[in-house]
Amino acid sequence: MSSSSLDQCMLPLRAIPGGYGVPFFGPIKDRYDYFYNQGEDEFFKTRIAKYKSTIFRTNMPPGPFISSNSKVVTVLDSKSFPILFDISKVEKRNILDGTYMPSTAFFGGYRVCAFLDPSEPNHRVLKSFCMNFLFSSRDKFIPYMRTSLSEMFSKLEGEISDGLQADFNVHSDNMAFDFFFRLFTGVSPSETDLKSRGPGITSTWLVLQLAPIMSLGLKYVPNFIDDLIHTFRLPFCVTKSGYKKFYKAVYNSATSLLDEAEKTGINREEACHNIIFLIGFSAFGGMKVVFPALIKWVASAGESLHNRLVDEIRSVVKEEGGVTFSALEKMSLVKSVVYEAFRIEPPVPYQYAKAKEDLVIESHDARFEIKKGETIFGFQTFATKDPKVFDNPDVFIADRFVGDGEKLLKYVYWSNARETDNPTLDDKQCAGKDLVVLCSRMMLVEFFLRYDTFTVEVGKLPLGSSVKITSFTKAS
Ligand code: HEM
Repeated sequence: MSSSSLDQCMLPLRAIPGGYGVPFFGPIKDRYDYFYNQGEDEFFKTRIAKYKSTIFRTNMPPGPFISSNSKVVTVLDSKSFPILFDISKVEKRNILDGTYMPSTAFFGGYRVCAFLDPSEPNHRVLKSFCMNFLFSSRDKFIPYMRTSLSEMFSKLEGEISDGLQADFNVHSDNMAFDFFFRLFTGVSPSETDLKSRGPGITSTWLVLQLAPIMSLGLKYVPNFIDDLIHTFRLPFCVTKSGYKKFYKAVYNSATSLLDEAEKTGINREEACHNIIFLIGFSAFGGMKVVFPALIKWVASAGESLHNRLVDEIRSVVKEEGGVTFSALEKMSLVKSVVYEAFRIEPPVPYQYAKAKEDLVIESHDARFEIKKGETIFGFQTFATKDPKVFDNPDVFIADRFVGDGEKLLKYVYWSNARETDNPTLDDKQCAGKDLVVLCSRMMLVEFFLRYDTFTVEVGKLPLGSSVKITSFTKAS
């Protein structure tokens, strides 16, 4: 027996600490602690300290009246977290958003791929449709992204030269929407009836679905008013006409992709709602958080990191004769910076799954029994800042994953799997993993081909960070 498996056998079996409080009031108390009395980080930190464990029982929002069962077993360390990826032991049906699922009216009445468990035959059909599409469009990624980024930087520069702070979020959202819409449909959203309304329509659609698990963070609104969005579902009808426009724009322009879908046995309407989910929720919703976080962390690291990025990016691009897949692969600092941003601030920090059978999970200190049917919840921000794995976990270390540091990539979980794994039709790993990493690297490359350094002002939004660019220094 190896020493590590011997260690594991010797870990004591402990009853899972924590609890759910009295019915109805317990979940509401936890919800108030989570959103208002403590806030997300304190909520978990205080319970880790109280129970002396990174695994414990609690309720997760929303609770009454939206979720019928808000009881979860929380996992907060890097060792227990991957149980959420083990499809042989956990089920991922209808659990994307946690202890509630939005009405399928938001998706045209269909359960789109992200809500399906791999044991459901339609999961394989829809995920393969997505992955085949991504594979066949790979040659467009770099040129389309370069065009979209170049337009974005021109607009940002325009605002700065007018003496204003440039709102990175607005332009980054527009850029991401344009890029993904064009990738999937072949046309720019401005050539359809959506015109420039795509990002606004999609943001409303996202907020209506995700309101039960977010806080609007409005300063002068009393908590009990803010809490109404965690108590009652917001109806789809608010966004119905916008969604219809989005649907029509995709339906009328993505004709060859929809033909492909029909050939593989997916009905045209279902394929179209899945494409909307990919453009609007996965890609636009994801990038809405990823790009501002990346720019925020790179800005916070200051001019010395900017200089190193400039050196690496410009010399590799020169050597390789342009921005190519192989050039991007050679930029070890750029790659590490992107992984570090995903580690320190995972874009989708909440993962849920249901135990398919009675299980035993392990933290660094103990083993715990989970019963079949119990919901497991992981707050990824803690798992990827586990001090037992990462030195100075709360510090942004730009070259953490360079050289030998690459060994730590298996503890980066943003794509709902280890960074060293690749998505398959049998798991729930993000199908867009490589594209997301590529887009993030491209953001840095185009940034530092144009600018030597920059400064920002940072704030908080209900979904991610707000970033205002206060100055750019153009490439010398
Ligand atoms: C920054 C952008 C993105 C982030 C942060 C992200 C993150 C994730 C995460 C965490 C999951 C797993 C959700 C869960 O089951 O708990 C997921 C699933 C998925 N993602 Fe992404 N994603 C992004 C962009 C994309 C893009 C661009 C595509 C494709 C164009 C995509 C396609 C998918 C699909 C199809 C699934 C469902 C996988 C399955 O059911 O097996 N994602 N994504």
